[in-house]
Amino acid sequence: MSTTPTLDRERVRQLFNLRGSYHAEVGGGYEDDPYPAWHRLREQAPVHPGVVHELTGYPGPAVFMGLPFPDRPHFSVFGYAACADAYRDPETFASSPRPVDLNDGTLSASNSMISMGGARHRRHRALVQPSFVPAKARWWITNWIEEAVHDLIDGFAAEGRAELNVDFCAAIPILTITGSFGVPVDRALALRAALREPEEFVRILRPIVAARRESPQDDLISVLVEAELTDEEGATQRLSDAEIHSFAMLLLTAGSGTTWKQMGITLSALLQRPDVLEAVRADRGLLGPAIEESLRWTPTDPMFSRFVTRDVDFHGVRLPAGSVLHLCVGAANRDPARWERPDEYDITRRVRPSFAFGGGAHVCLGMHVARAEMRVGIGALLDRLPNLRLDPHAEPPRFIGMYERGATEIPVVFG
Ligand code: HEM
Repeated sequence: MSTTPTLDRERVRQLFNLRGSYHAEVGGGYEDDPYPAWHRLREQAPVHPGVVHELTGYPGPAVFMGLPFPDRPHFSVFGYAACADAYRDPETFASSPRPVDLNDGTLSASNSMISMGGARHRRHRALVQPSFVPAKARWWITNWIEEAVHDLIDGFAAEGRAELNVDFCAAIPILTITGSFGVPVDRALALRAALREPEEFVRILRPIVAARRESPQDDLISVLVEAELTDEEGATQRLSDAEIHSFAMLLLTAGSGTTWKQMGITLSALLQRPDVLEAVRADRGLLGPAIEESLRWTPTDPMFSRFVTRDVDFHGVRLPAGSVLHLCVGAANRDPARWERPDEYDITRRVRPSFAFGGGAHVCLGMHVARAEMRVGIGALLDRLPNLRLDPHAEPPRFIGMYERGATEIPVVFG
């Protein structure tokens, strides 16, 4: 059993208020199944004028990735091959409409590496990439993931029931990433709460950065303070505090809500198919494929946007320079040209890469960490909670949300 102070469960519930986490601006009010509309659209053409939510028949969201930009023409991609072509050409399909300046005083997840292009993006990404390769998964698991997972299960194991979406899935990614920053458990929730208050975020992180500059440890902030960035002329320099804060904010923003919602989707898919859950319990080798299939079948973020830098003919549509191209990777992941019976959650199908983690130069940096969190988290639930099943007296989970999809409550009983 771990020695860290356990999390304040009420605080976790407040902070990760499930309904509140489906924000209106990202289509949180959407409660339907978008896939029938996406199939229809793909059958008509791989690329359509318009934005994904409106084409799906939902007027809701105003702000997400490449939205709203009302003065630009918008197009949306629904086919797998067309998404792959866009990912392959980041010069034409750029991640941001404007250059990034990390030292301009704006601290936000989008003013970061994720919005950079070309050689500059490669240089910044190369600094952290070694900490996120598959061979580093063990480092993440033994230092932070296992402890977080078991602490959380300790909190409800004796009760015979739990709500897994908030009490389990939401907290694991936060504890993992803040742990890797060297933030103690009792400040982890404060750092999460500070995501919308950059000054507070910096106030918590600054002393840790200063301490690691003095004396590096075995954690991610130490990797960042020791990293050397090489400029076009070949000169090297250490990252500024502002650059480190920007990296940290990107990691926490990109890695927390996503992994939370995807773990909830995977658990819901398994709990609603007790025979599949039993198969995974009996043969843990099936857990990896169960996670990959959940990523393909219902990726939590089914749309990412790119900014078109030159006039281009693209899969039968003329895209003018300055337009925005929305890649509906949710639709691409169920393209029947690539997967048979694409609407079925089938953990026995041959695993072929999907676009749940994006593709090309900006493919998710944290994908092996996310996979490790889901594998260790779900594996530990199966190990420690015999007869784990959905609470037969509660409403079963449903998937909601347009651009950040996830499950409603996941009420389970065990024992
Ligand atoms: C299941 C969980 C996750 C999903 C579905 C996911 C999905 C994605 C996607 C689709 C992108 C590409 C965005 C684009 O092309 O514009 C991305 C980028 C990124 N993700 Fe993840 N992510 C997850 C977990 C994580 C975790 C755990 C971390 C870090 C610990 C992380 C860090 C990042 C970073 C830093 C980028 C930007 C990479 C770059 O610009 O080169 N993600 N993620």
